[in-house]
Amino acid sequence: MSATLSETTQDTDTTTRPGLRDGAFGNARALSCRECGHEVELGPFYACPECFGPLEVAYGERAVTREEIEAGPPNIWRYKALLPVPTDIESSPNTEPGFTRLLEARNLGRELGIDTLWVKDDSTNPTNSFKDRVVACALSAARELHAKVFACPSTGNLANAVAAAGARAGIKTVVFIPADLEKPKQVNSAVYTDSLVAVNGTYDDVNKLASEIAGEEDGWAFVNVNVRPYYAEGSKTLGFEIAEQLGWRLPDQIVIPVASGSQLTKVHKAFQELVSLGLVEDKPYKVFGAQAHGCSPVSAAYKAGEDTIRPVRPDTIVKSLAIGNPADGIYVLDICRQTGGAVEDVTDDEVRAGILLLARTEGVFTETAGGTTTAVLRKLVETGQLDPSLETVIINTGMGLKTLDAVADQVGAAATIDPSYTAFAATGIA
Ligand SMILES: Cc1ncc(COP(=O)(O)O)c(C=O)c1O
Ligand SMILES: [Zn+2]
Repeated sequence: MSATLSETTQDTDTTTRPGLRDGAFGNARALSCRECGHEVELGPFYACPECFGPLEVAYGERAVTREEIEAGPPNIWRYKALLPVPTDIESSPNTEPGFTRLLEARNLGRELGIDTLWVKDDSTNPTNSFKDRVVACALSAARELHAKVFACPSTGNLANAVAAAGARAGIKTVVFIPADLEKPKQVNSAVYTDSLVAVNGTYDDVNKLASEIAGEEDGWAFVNVNVRPYYAEGSKTLGFEIAEQLGWRLPDQIVIPVASGSQLTKVHKAFQELVSLGLVEDKPYKVFGAQAHGCSPVSAAYKAGEDTIRPVRPDTIVKSLAIGNPADGIYVLDICRQTGGAVEDVTDDEVRAGILLLARTEGVFTETAGGTTTAVLRKLVETGQLDPSLETVIINTGMGLKTLDAVADQVGAAATIDPSYTAFAATGIA
């Protein structure tokens, strides 16, 4: 019998699961509850059998040097010793995401009055968002657990990444999205899979449906449901890369978009792991979360001084961040408060302005999530919540070509002319 995705009970012992090969999850030792610390064996589990808290990957002894990492491939597998993946991960077909550019954003910094500003540009990943990172880790888990189907509920980018990675790995994919999703994000999935399922409802409805299917169907790996602990670890690579690209040190401040909140919590976890492994020096840093006003349950709780998240029904052009009931929202609150950061939100008009600001200052065309992050950065400076004299990083998590409609009415040809110099001269552009 193999370790399957059909088992619904969770054993509490941590012995090796039948059907799992040795080292299937690398240095990972167990799954540990974020709330009560209870541990369960490595397998397709995501909720604590004791308290229903979220499970996350716990590791055994790990030792890795900067030199070993630097000698690795120019993708996320250079950090494989710190991920729940086998040592031979590079040999199984995957999209090899990561090691994206960290751009010094001098023009944007000057515009906003920030002395040192960097943009971690994850729009250049294989399917043009940071989701390729998490999906690569989820794919490894799905493979090791002998999944038959690779699936996800998605706000768009995740579906693109799952569909592409599944195609490359030769595993059947089924991706679920809200039916009102931007057309380019639908096409960007449908080119890779014949099983794109559009659901009449919000992302939160789609997510609920996915959990139901995961309970009914055997052998389905839903990347952000039953293999979520492994999936989420992939976002740590953003934090690892930022530190490595800064010359093995942490920034003073970082601004990260928040949908479920998973990415923000994992970038923080990555910084903590680098410190505890002795790969960077310990120092204070502030973490800031960015949301769109039309779906800002975490920002609302932050501003109200509350510890719980009140779910909302999203109403925003920022569909990639439109999760009304964010699974990791309370952890985002904790991290932003503990580090001295904040969670802020901006209107859809500010998001559009943020997209154009990043494009025109740095030549980076971001999607609405990055517009949100850029606009929140501006607001944080203007409201005195972010210190412009401290070194700051923002993460651009996605690509503007997927959300063209957001700015299509605001930009276009400055003039339409006949092909003659006289006609051009008359435009006044020269
Ligand atoms: C482009 C983009 N940025 C950020 C996020 C937020 O990620 P998380 O759910 O980990 O908070 C998403 C999630 O779908 C996304 O698509
Ligand atoms: Zn628990």
